[in-house]
Amino acid sequence: MPHYRQVGSIPHKRHTQFRSPEGGLYAEELMGVEGFSADSALLYHRYLPTAIVDAVAVPDERGGLTPNHPLKPRAYRSQDLKFGDGADAVTDRRRLFGNNDVTIAFAKATAPSPLYRNAAGDELFYVQGGSGTVETIYGALTVGDGDYLVIPTSCTYRVVPDGELTLLILEARGHIGPPKRYLSAKGQFLEHSPYCERDLRGPTEPILAEGTDVDVLVRHRAGLTRYTYANHPFDVVGWDGCLYPWAFNIDDFEPITGRVHQPPPVHQTFEGPNFVVCSFCPRKVDYHPESIPVPYNHANVDSDELMFYVRGNYEARKGSGIGVGSLSLHPSGFTHGPQPGAAEASIGADYFDETAVMVDTFAPLDLGEAADAAEDAGYAWTWSGRGPKG
Ligand SMILES: [Fe+2]
Repeated sequence: MPHYRQVGSIPHKRHTQFRSPEGGLYAEELMGVEGFSADSALLYHRYLPTAIVDAVAVPDERGGLTPNHPLKPRAYRSQDLKFGDGADAVTDRRRLFGNNDVTIAFAKATAPSPLYRNAAGDELFYVQGGSGTVETIYGALTVGDGDYLVIPTSCTYRVVPDGELTLLILEARGHIGPPKRYLSAKGQFLEHSPYCERDLRGPTEPILAEGTDVDVLVRHRAGLTRYTYANHPFDVVGWDGCLYPWAFNIDDFEPITGRVHQPPPVHQTFEGPNFVVCSFCPRKVDYHPESIPVPYNHANVDSDELMFYVRGNYEARKGSGIGVGSLSLHPSGFTHGPQPGAAEASIGADYFDETAVMVDTFAPLDLGEAADAAEDAGYAWTWSGRGPKG
């Protein structure tokens, strides 16, 4: 993140002696991206962050990915995904889609996750329902309905639900942040950005857990490894810098509207390597006297478009079977648009009460086993008005 935070105790001068009340040196750790050339944080540990006592390969049981072939628009019901009692948000997340740039998964967690670190890239949570606490080496963040949470690469964390916590999870092969066009040259949000620093939350105090022989599951490019650390990794007494987990709520995203239909980039919320994330929020719709409020048909020539419908009514999708909890995948190579009759029906509307999270990927999304289990097989034919094919 562009702006600086400080939490807990730190020494006045970086890379100088900083001692505990007992007189021992705290262990300084720099978490920095892009090889010391971009954002970083300095953390001060009670124990050595390097002290591992075991490392074990762990099988990755996500199942395979299959291409979208035959190429079809597809729809899924996240409500149909099955999660066992005691599922957690790390080991029981289920992969819906993926490519070399991003994995998109879903979780319905009712139990605390193990300690976990994704060393292959940043993660982005969208909280579809429930609440919980995400504990990290930087401190804890509470999250609830409609929150986005960005977790930087290699940030150790665990997810502790309050009851049930439902998440859409993106795992990037790189870093996720606000679109660069929203930021000044020095990193401040500009006036045209739909959200700004005041909307963001970060950790506010250290956790300071104690424990010995503590396991941390690490996702890395080759798979999963379980490290055992000599001491609990949540031992940071203070940190400062511009790299940390941060959250904001989709209700704080201020929609940009116009006299005629505004294209999806006005809804952009994040950018990642070869993908973007957009937030479609309740909004006043197009107010030209001759406007058609639902979108025009569009061939998204260079992207696959995944839409997760999270609240409200979807004017453009009436008659398609899509509702809250659905996901639609409109791939490159297929022109999509409003359902039959939706354009005419939308004329005269002045407000859409709908909330959706969209992920546009610049390479095709392959389909995971969880997607196969939750697909509405008749969706592709809903524009024809002829009903499902046999
Ligand atoms: Fe679209």
